[in-house]
Amino acid sequence: MTKIRIAIQKSGRLNEDSLKILKEAGISIDNGKDQLKAIARNFPLEVFYLRNGDIPQYLRDGVVDIAIIGENVLIEKGEGITIVERLNFSKCKVSLAIPKAVNYNSLDDFEGKRIATSYPNTVKKYLQQKGVNADLHIINGSVEIAPNIGLADGICDIVSSGSTLFKNGLKEVEVMLKSEAVLAVSPEISEERKSLLSKLQFRIQSVLRARQ
Ligand code: PRP
Ligand code: MG
Repeated sequence: MTKIRIAIQKSGRLNEDSLKILKEAGISIDNGKDQLKAIARNFPLEVFYLRNGDIPQYLRDGVVDIAIIGENVLIEKGEGITIVERLNFSKCKVSLAIPKAVNYNSLDDFEGKRIATSYPNTVKKYLQQKGVNADLHIINGSVEIAPNIGLADGICDIVSSGSTLFKNGLKEVEVMLKSEAVLAVSPEISEERKSLLSKLQFRIQSVLRARQ
């Protein structure tokens, strides 16, 4: 029997809530994080536990049919991938921040400055639209440390509770975008799997309604 293949985050902030919404949708999944692949017991669904940043490529290639992923990741590198449902969890912002002690007037203050980020496309586009030129340093994690070690003047990263910024002596100065978890679909999904998606989506919508 054909199964629909869903990618969810292997570990990190979305993992738990993604499994939870599937569970509330009545889908029981054998096994968890140790195995990279799991099968649902009572729905034709296969679960792949993947790294966040890899999920857009898997969707584009049609290796997975759907994913629960942060909208911010799709904005950064999800060209061609469709969002079919906003899931109302894992809300966060993608923001620019600078050291607390540094004065800030406007985005122009970033002109000629070095910005450390894991979201180069998002920042590039944002700055371009506002006519600001900055020097981007791409790093994959612990971005907030960059100003303290002299790697950058500011950073662009996800802000959720704000505690990482606070602990690193930074302040948020611009909110570039707001994000939440979404259900995303591969451009390569087959007709047969599309009808499985409809069934799954119907269940997810009931969960979202019940949560309100
Ligand atoms: C994420 C993100 C921020 C932080 C924001 O990092 O990159 O650093 O969470 O959350 P907060 O506002 O609630 O502190 P994560 O802890 O996932 O680690 P990483 O950056 O090393 O991937
Ligand atoms: Mg971080």
